[in-house]
Amino acid sequence: MMHSAILNVMIKAAQRAGRSLKRDLGEVEHLQVSLKGPRNFVTAADHRAEDIVRAELAKARPDYGFLGEEGGVREGADKTHRWIVDPLDGTTNFLHGIPHFAVSIALERNGTIVAGIVYNPANDELFVAERGKGAFLNDRRIRVAARQRLDEAVVACGLPHHGRGDLKLAHAEIFAAQQSFAGLRRYGAATLDLAWVAAGRLDAYWERDLAPWDLAAGLLLVREAGGFATDMAGGDAILARGEVVAGNDTMHRELLRLLKDAAKAPTQA
Ligand code: IPD
Ligand code: CA
Ligand code: CA
Repeated sequence: MMHSAILNVMIKAAQRAGRSLKRDLGEVEHLQVSLKGPRNFVTAADHRAEDIVRAELAKARPDYGFLGEEGGVREGADKTHRWIVDPLDGTTNFLHGIPHFAVSIALERNGTIVAGIVYNPANDELFVAERGKGAFLNDRRIRVAARQRLDEAVVACGLPHHGRGDLKLAHAEIFAAQQSFAGLRRYGAATLDLAWVAAGRLDAYWERDLAPWDLAAGLLLVREAGGFATDMAGGDAILARGEVVAGNDTMHRELLRLLKDAAKAPTQA
């Protein structure tokens, strides 16, 4: 399948970082690990992967800006383009040898995400999308699931942990979701949660307290796969508010309603 020149640059960067992560996965017990906050790990593997991605992207587009989870903001001479990168999404999974993690790269042009990829090197699944050109998994076109019945739906969510996020609200939302859906999943990599909604594996997904690098590429995948994604108020301030509700039109609407109701009655949990 022919990808655009810019997508090929992003794919090459992600695959190079992916090879480094696979090597580190084999050595995970020897990896240097440090804490960025309560239960928020970062490893030498995260830094190595980000250095590789940044170097590859800078080789092809030296003037573009860069926002990376580990290295922060790097201004570019070209103020209209910015890379948004999570070099290793699912660090806690990675540290436990759980093969569910990804490299996520998005390209923002004048504030709009125009290209995005999410790559899981453990199973070599490459999710790509370009604005107006659809979404693909390993070169096969993907679409969100068409399921309309909540009691047949499998939904993923984030699970805040102690010291991060509103546990009481989360419990109320999970309590409500358990009443409605066929299954609830917590996989531990937000970029893959969105990519799996785009691929129709998950019917919907919601999470709060996310950073732009957790969301940017996955949002474009969901929308180019025919899905809907908003913030918890149903608006488009997803990156700014760090929250997302995603799914096909019915699942998105029903999940948003369910979450709003749960927020009104958190005491029941
Ligand atoms: C984390 C994962 C996790 C989500 C956290 C993120 P990281 O990213 O996406 O699923 O619940 O909020 O911070 O730290 O592994 O890149
Ligand atoms: Ca992340
Ligand atoms: Ca990360």
